[in-house]
Amino acid sequence: MAAKHDEPYLSANERHPERSLQFDFVRATENAALSAIDWLGRGDKESADAAASDAIRGTLEQSDFCGEVVIGEGIKDNAPGIFLGEKIGSWKFPSPRFNIAVDPIDGTTNISKGLPNSISVMAAAHVPHGAEAAMVNIPTFYSEKLAYGPEVAAAMARDPALRFDLDTPVAQILERVAAALGKKVRQVYVVVLDRPRHQRIIAEVRAAGAALRLIGDGDVTAAVSPSLHDSGIDLYMGIGGSPEGVLTSAGVLALGGDQQLRMWPRDDDERREIAATPAAANLGRIFYARDLVTSPSAIFCATGISDSPLLPGVRLIGRKVITHSILMRSQSRSVRYIKTVHDLDFKTIRRSPDRRDHYV
Ligand code: FBP
Repeated sequence: MAAKHDEPYLSANERHPERSLQFDFVRATENAALSAIDWLGRGDKESADAAASDAIRGTLEQSDFCGEVVIGEGIKDNAPGIFLGEKIGSWKFPSPRFNIAVDPIDGTTNISKGLPNSISVMAAAHVPHGAEAAMVNIPTFYSEKLAYGPEVAAAMARDPALRFDLDTPVAQILERVAAALGKKVRQVYVVVLDRPRHQRIIAEVRAAGAALRLIGDGDVTAAVSPSLHDSGIDLYMGIGGSPEGVLTSAGVLALGGDQQLRMWPRDDDERREIAATPAAANLGRIFYARDLVTSPSAIFCATGISDSPLLPGVRLIGRKVITHSILMRSQSRSVRYIKTVHDLDFKTIRRSPDRRDHYV
């Protein structure tokens, strides 16, 4: 409470700089989606990723903040991307400091094949004065994940008999989710990435009788969906990218849901690499969303590229392009759905390589 007395002369935007900057972040994912859509179905995921990354960098270099990418992408297949440690924003002094998690395209394979379920997504967390960081980097390529919505999180907090974690057998998790939601197990909808490594989970979900939706790619959308009351998804489970897991945490926190995540080294080499770093202490730890995004001043935003349960994709109608985005802020729990009509005769995007504005 002391802070309230200490800060009466600060405006809301000074206390929570993400309050006004959030709109610049959504402009960046919109521009990434508008840049990526050119590559839909062209079988070239690297060019799509590069175009989306350049648009994010270029758009945000016009915004006054000091952004450090703590969750980047690009390790996978040596793809182009925005990397861990990269600086984004104008870095003008004195601008607020932000930790950034970004995936210019979640679902690059989907884009390259012209399939649904791809978004441009980022999260930003204000690093308060004196703090070192506002987000935690998970160094393994993959993590085990379980994501659920606000009703399930609240039921777990209220009733110990309904609690579960990554070590709970799948059938019990499904029974507890069903009880928390007042449903039968067969009415519980679970999303899992369709991968050979998930054979056991898939068999157990089917044996328990829950409804299963297997997806090809794009687990940020899948893991945020249970926290959206109208998504029709109750649970996301399985092993997916660690950066995507941290990004998801910012989203579920703003929606009142939760996610559990535990590092899952792919092989002995990766396990040995991690064991030689300070992250070794956290190898068996189950992280909850709040452990990964530690600042209360965080935002999550995403723009649809191709259609997904979270967002419609980019639509071109004559000389107009329509984008749909979601923008959430954890401090206020506000969730904005933003439909933007871009006029192609006027719309330009600043791209990072030449730092110039280009028509779309
Ligand atoms: P990218 O589009 O960034 O390549 O990620 C797609 C994705 O499906 C993620 O959503 C997911 O976390 C990860 O890949 C799963 O990895 P893999 O395809 O190796 O199973």
